[in-house]
Amino acid sequence: MDTKPPSYRHTTRLFLVIGIALVLAVIVRSQLVPESFGEIGHYRADAIEEATQFELRHLGREACAECHDDIVDLHAKDAHARVPCESCHGAGAKHVAAEGDGEIHRPEGKQVCLICHRMLAARPGEFAQIDVEAHFAFVGVEDPQTLCVDCHSPHEPLFMDRDLRQARLHPLIHRCRDCHIGRTDDTLPRPEGHPAIFECDYCHAEVAAGFAERPHNGVRCTACHLFFKETESAGRILRDSDPRFCLLCHRDAPFRSDDAPPGIDWPDHRETMAEDDNDLDKRCIDCHQDRIHPLQTRTAAAGEE
Ligand code: HEC
Ligand code: HEC
Ligand code: HEC
Ligand code: HEC
Ligand code: HEC
Ligand code: HEC
Ligand code: HEC
Ligand code: HEC
Ligand code: HEC
Repeated sequence: MDTKPPSYRHTTRLFLVIGIALVLAVIVRSQLVPESFGEIGHYRADAIEEATQFELRHLGREACAECHDDIVDLHAKDAHARVPCESCHGAGAKHVAAEGDGEIHRPEGKQVCLICHRMLAARPGEFAQIDVEAHFAFVGVEDPQTLCVDCHSPHEPLFMDRDLRQARLHPLIHRCRDCHIGRTDDTLPRPEGHPAIFECDYCHAEVAAGFAERPHNGVRCTACHLFFKETESAGRILRDSDPRFCLLCHRDAPFRSDDAPPGIDWPDHRETMAEDDNDLDKRCIDCHQDRIHPLQTRTAAAGEE
């Protein structure tokens, strides 16, 4: 048999091609890798400098305070304290740069509120959510075209008469929505064996007993006393007696239905009802606390501070 030694000649061509490719790759790389790459890490050092040069579109509320300090202060004290101005008004840079002349979004309609507050099965339960129909029925609104801002101010939605952050600190109070996604019907009977929840009457027994006998007994305690969760174990609770808060339910308005809570004209109502000049400075509760609940005489549970 004729055995020729194997020939490797064809491989020299292969190595030549690979060699050229490598040289080309090195040349291309040296052209493409940016200048400052690798100086301080596996990235372009100049990128840091460039990132600081981008024009800001969102400026934060401090930028608004310069000219709208009244709104900024109001907003910081009410339930929307954590919502940035620009979540509703859009980026504010152009407007600020033009000292207020530049365009800025002025939201209209219900969507601006429902984008965050519409009841959705996927939304965490502890966030305040409403079903528009049920909400309107509860507050006696007949006309479906009624806007949220016809009652709620976007900058102080609940008209708290005192800064949220100064309100009384309470132990964690479980609301139905803390555990049940989307549930707003707090009056539903709970089944036997339901987890125990810390309720208002546990500590405020007399207030709760008095409340049950009066005309507001269909209203949740936390509808008037907002519980604002602050940590995993505590939250702030409001004692709100701003007349505009009561008027959320009691203002006479064209959109109200016949079974809405009784409506009044304000401040005409006070003038009509006043017996003397002293009455002209009174708030609703100065004349009407007897319709809500007794004020507290300290009980053992609510105890010492
Ligand atoms: C340099 C002053 C200045 C700053 C800063 C400023 N604004 Fe204004 N803004 C104005 C002026 C002036 C007007 C027009 C007069 C008015 O309605 O008060 C205005 C009007 C508005 C309006 C009403 C627009 C309309 O169409 O009715 C909104 C909303 C608004 N500003 C939001 C903001 C927000 C949000 C910020 C912060 C990102 C901000 N502004 C920062 C001066 C300013
Ligand atoms: C929850 C949404 C929301 C947030 C947050 C919000 N706004 Fe507004 N803002 C509105 C709406 C809605 C209007 C229009 C109200 C109306 O037409 O009655 C408005 C109106 C305004 C106006 C015009 C007022 C007027 O009387 O014409 C200014 C100025 C303004 N907002 C500034 C601010 C500033 C500053 C902040 C942050 C501190 C802020 N807004 C936060 C929704 C919001
Ligand atoms: C960007 C999201 C966002 C938008 C838009 C928004 N809200 Fe809110 N709203 C919040 C947050 C966050 C809270 C505070 C809830 C909490 O921390 O418990 C809140 C609280 C409230 C509360 C008190 C709820 C409670 O805890 O009982 C009311 C009432 C309210 N908003 C009404 C409105 C109205 C009316 C509008 C439209 C003008 C609006 N919101 C638009 C985020 C939003
Ligand atoms: C007739 C006045 C009125 C109108 C209109 C109105 N609300 Fe209310 N809203 C109230 C009152 C009163 C409360 C407090 C009682 C309560 O918590 O149910 C309230 C409470 C809320 C709460 C807190 C609910 C909770 O479970 O903590 C949210 C969120 C809210 N409103 C959003 C809206 C939105 C969004 C609209 C527009 C689609 C709207 N409201 C329209 C009167 C109104
Ligand atoms: C600490 C968490 C927690 C809180 C707060 C809470 N629940 Fe529940 N709830 C549960 C659990 C867990 C179940 C399921 C119990 C079972 O299957 O035995 C349940 C079941 C129920 C059920 C029956 C099943 C269903 O989903 O319809 C009703 C009705 C109910 N809860 C009503 C309420 C009401 C009303 C409130 C507010 C007053 C409330 N719950 C507050 C945890 C909670
Ligand atoms: C673990 C006990 C406890 C529970 C549960 C409780 N509270 Fe209180 N609450 C207190 C104590 C203690 C005070 C302070 C009493 C005092 O100063 O006389 C207080 C004070 C208050 C005040 C007055 C706040 C102020 O600024 O003066 C209100 C309003 C209030 N509670 C409402 C409620 C509501 C509504 C609930 C249910 C959602 C509730 N509390 C549940 C213990 C409790
Ligand atoms: C969440 C809605 C709501 C809020 C907020 C509210 N009320 Fe009422 N109010 C009602 C309902 C419901 C009734 C009972 C109407 C009925 O019996 O037909 C009522 C009845 C009344 C009455 C008439 C009682 C009678 O004997 O006919 C007065 C006075 C009153 N409320 C005062 C107030 C005051 C003061 C505030 C503020 C601290 C307030 N309300 C806040 C819903 C509300
Ligand atoms: C100077 C005292 C005074 C003040 C302040 C006052 N009211 Fe009255 N109000 C009365 C009297 C008096 C009546 C009629 C007798 C009654 O129902 O107690 C009345 C009646 C009412 C009724 C029942 C109306 C009806 O048709 O059945 C409501 C609701 C009401 N007030 C709500 C309010 C609200 C909300 C405020 C604050 C925005 C307020 N009041 C402020 C003295 C007052
Ligand atoms: C219709 C609105 C409304 C409802 C619903 C309501 N409250 Fe009140 N509550 C008030 C007002 C108004 C005050 C007095 C605020 C003030 O004096 O500035 C008050 C005061 C209190 C105080 C302080 C009492 C004191 O002597 O200082 C406690 C505690 C309290 N409420 C607990 C409750 C409990 C518990 C419930 C439910 C069983 C409840 N509230 C339901 C409106 C309401």
